[in-house]
Amino acid sequence: MCLFYGVPQSFKWRVLKVFSRRLGFKCELKTKKAESPDLGSLVFFEADRDIPFAFKRVYYTYGVKEGVIRGRHAHKALEQLLICVYGAIEITCDDGEKKEYSVLNDPSRGLYVGKGIWRTMKWLKDDSVLLVLASEYYDESDYIRDYDEFIRLVKEGYWKR
Ligand code: TYD
Repeated sequence: MCLFYGVPQSFKWRVLKVFSRRLGFKCELKTKKAESPDLGSLVFFEADRDIPFAFKRVYYTYGVKEGVIRGRHAHKALEQLLICVYGAIEITCDDGEKKEYSVLNDPSRGLYVGKGIWRTMKWLKDDSVLLVLASEYYDESDYIRDYDEFIRLVKEGYWKR
């Protein structure tokens, strides 16, 4: 992105967030990877530099069988980066008007999921591991677990897209 040469990373993220909102909501990121031919690869994310928020929480889901669907909720304010560190997981992001599907099967890629997105995660392979970086501590009151309630909030303009 030579247009952005010399521009602070946090500003680039703000621009990317605005454009990703205009173009849709998906924002798939290629991360920086350190590779050594004999030793494999190492991927790293730095808050505010490589991802568009500072994360307060990390969690991961493992031991899940192929075909299982998790998620089925949206968040009022939480932002997340989803990384499939092993295996393959299909993520569906629904902003209340349209749906986008992404298959995460490369540990060097992360999917940014902003607030107000109904998401489902379908395991495409046994024992795939989903790592999540989250902008806030766990708070059940930030969850919307009822799809009708989610659509009602979208229509009310709760997220002002
Ligand atoms: P949930 O976010 O619904 O998982 P998924 O989207 O993968 O289906 O969380 C499942 C359960 O775990 C729910 O009862 C809340 C609890 N939980 C915590 O206690 N702390 C956390 O940080 C997370 C992510 C979940």
